[in-house]
Amino acid sequence: MSIKREHWGSRLGFIMATAGSAIGLGNIWKFPYMAGENGGAAFIIIYLALVFTIGLSVLLAEIMIGRSTQSDAVTAFKKLGHGGFSVVGYMGIAAAFMILSFYCVVAGWTIAYIIKFASGHFVGMGGAELGAEFGSFIAAPVKPILYQGGFVILTVIVVLGGIANGIERAGKILMPLLFVILIALVIRGVTLPGAERGLEFFLAPDFSKITGSTIMAALGQAFFSLSLGMGAILTYGSYLDKTANIGKSASQVAFLDTLVAILAGLAILPAVFAFNMDPGAGPGLTFVTLPAVFSAMPGGYIFGPLFFCLLTIAALTSSVSLLEPLVAFFSTKGFSRAQITIASGFLTFLMGIPCSLSFGLLSDFKIIDRNFFDLMDFLTANLMLPIGGMLIAIFAGWVITPLAIREVSGEGDHGLLTKAWIFILRFVAPIAIALILLSGLDIIQF
Ligand code: PHE
Repeated sequence: MSIKREHWGSRLGFIMATAGSAIGLGNIWKFPYMAGENGGAAFIIIYLALVFTIGLSVLLAEIMIGRSTQSDAVTAFKKLGHGGFSVVGYMGIAAAFMILSFYCVVAGWTIAYIIKFASGHFVGMGGAELGAEFGSFIAAPVKPILYQGGFVILTVIVVLGGIANGIERAGKILMPLLFVILIALVIRGVTLPGAERGLEFFLAPDFSKITGSTIMAALGQAFFSLSLGMGAILTYGSYLDKTANIGKSASQVAFLDTLVAILAGLAILPAVFAFNMDPGAGPGLTFVTLPAVFSAMPGGYIFGPLFFCLLTIAALTSSVSLLEPLVAFFSTKGFSRAQITIASGFLTFLMGIPCSLSFGLLSDFKIIDRNFFDLMDFLTANLMLPIGGMLIAIFAGWVITPLAIREVSGEGDHGLLTKAWIFILRFVAPIAIALILLSGLDIIQF
């Protein structure tokens, strides 16, 4: 029994859903602290260069493979006659669970913050108190796990209902709203007294901070933020019909994703400096800085809960896209959408427990020098997604080149952009990804 292949209502629907997948905690929670830890503007320049060369090219390749095969990430490669590349799909399934495990923990924190804000819990707290508050909240053994479970249930509900009607429609209204609030936050953030140092940190590059592992972090962030290398975008592309101009759609998604990340950085980093906080504070940055900004702005107690509400929704449109490839694949094995979704949700919840406890009970439990949460993040973003992306680039650039060209440009038209795309897929992406991984893992040194 296989489910009927749904299609997006319109090209806009596809863009919103794909941008919904791309825009999430990766942009608002992860990007600012990654930039903060890795040298600010220098990191951002490398990130931008990677997004608009390798990232955009792999994004387009995934959409192209999905659309032309109308299949999940395992079946697609088999249909194209190269079942060996299905390893991308299998690795993607493992990556989906691993990402979901820590993603849902952070999304659980955002739900908790809606409630804390709305109940007036933060009234009168300064930066230091907000930091202590956050630290003790995530270290608790039970509550964060309950919130994580709550978020998993939300994700399951949306995926159960299919995406076209629920999340596609919600995204069209709520994503623009998130955007507006983010702009308001940027304005408040950059006009705080003392924000200049943050702006400088964000805008003036210091390349001495760049090392192999910084570049690996930027590459991993590019793949994570664009949802690449694990079959999510490929699966979304498979719900697309043949008429859409996918080159244009891919560029728009990459642009929107980057814009939101930069705005989040502008909202958060200047405020970090204005409140004398540490830009290298890591995963807690957003949860400590933003509440401080909200308390320092008029109407903050309306904007605060609203912002965390929208962040939860942004996370939801991403977590849905992590579950959907599992549904697409396992439904070819005779399972129903409901069976797959509920079973995957349960497994996600279980895997989330050690992630959540990484900040408390299990904080001393380290594998390759990382707690469980960081390990899941590192293995997926920095290794599995770039390796998946490299295989996709090689596949589209070398193995199915004529099909790839035909799909994006229409027959006969070999425009310059298509040529550049193939060149990046063939040479730039595989070589750069290999070098970055080898140097990031300290296997080679420049
Ligand atoms: N791109 C999402 C974000 O930035 C995370 C994600 C990664 C979603 C991989 C799907 C696949 O939050």
